[in-house]
Amino acid sequence: MNPVLKTIHNRTSLRRYKDTPISDEHLKTVLEATLRAPTAGNMMLYSVLTIKDQAMKEKLSKTCDNQPFIARAPLLLVFLADYQRWFDYYRMSDVAQLREPDVGDLFLAMDDAIVAAQTAVLAAESLGMGTCYIGDIMENYETHRELLQLPDYVFPAAMLTLGYYPDDYSPKFRDRFAEEYIVHSEKYRNLSDEDLQKMFVGLEEGFSHNNKFGAKNMGQFMYARKTGSEFAREMSRSIRAALQNWQGREL
Ligand SMILES: Cc1cc2nc3c(=O)[nH]c(=O)nc-3n(C[C@H](O)[C@H](O)[C@H](O)COP(=O)(O)O)c2cc1C
Repeated sequence: MNPVLKTIHNRTSLRRYKDTPISDEHLKTVLEATLRAPTAGNMMLYSVLTIKDQAMKEKLSKTCDNQPFIARAPLLLVFLADYQRWFDYYRMSDVAQLREPDVGDLFLAMDDAIVAAQTAVLAAESLGMGTCYIGDIMENYETHRELLQLPDYVFPAAMLTLGYYPDDYSPKFRDRFAEEYIVHSEKYRNLSDEDLQKMFVGLEEGFSHNNKFGAKNMGQFMYARKTGSEFAREMSRSIRAALQNWQGREL
């Protein structure tokens, strides 16, 4: 395996960190690599917030679905979908019939932000740091907006925790669904009930009837834990609130 593939295959989400700050040199290298990520139209529709302040990390660990390990990470990187810069530039340039950014602009900026985030993940990994995505940064829009001082056309797409691997760390590689269910050839293939049964066999091995949701099978368990959960509802509420700014209204 070449070094790039090794980095990709050895990565796991890291939620426990060495008690060492990220060196300035390593942070600089990660950010330089991040800014080389592909970006739609070379517009760089994203910004990156570096967060080291302990008080801010504590706050984010609570607002992001109460995950204490967030506050223990030496560094947080927040990847923002950012149309503010371009919108301000268009306004400055007296663009005729200027409209405010729309949902399409937001989705494109989200793509940019996530591509940049994953570039940072791999750069960090290659330097001996580990990361974990925090999707919950998309929740509590109003609070995060205030906390991070976000203007109207900026939305937090993802947050990353960053820290060095602890000396005693041994990676735990989580199984993935088999390729045949994820990769389709030429056209989308709807999975039959039989396909789904086969696809979920591995995951279902980990099911216990003795669970806090009273779930009787893995589907019920996962729904209660993920899609039907409070955090998922809050995420949708939060994103709906943010979408108010992305209506493409003519000015
Ligand atoms: C968009 C996104 C959001 C995530 N949010 C969280 C999170 O809030 N907390 C957490 O502990 N892990 C989070 N993760 C990490 C996943 O749980 C992890 O990637 C998955 O379980 C697979 O494990 P692995 O990364 O070690 O292979 C997130 C990952 C992604 C891609």
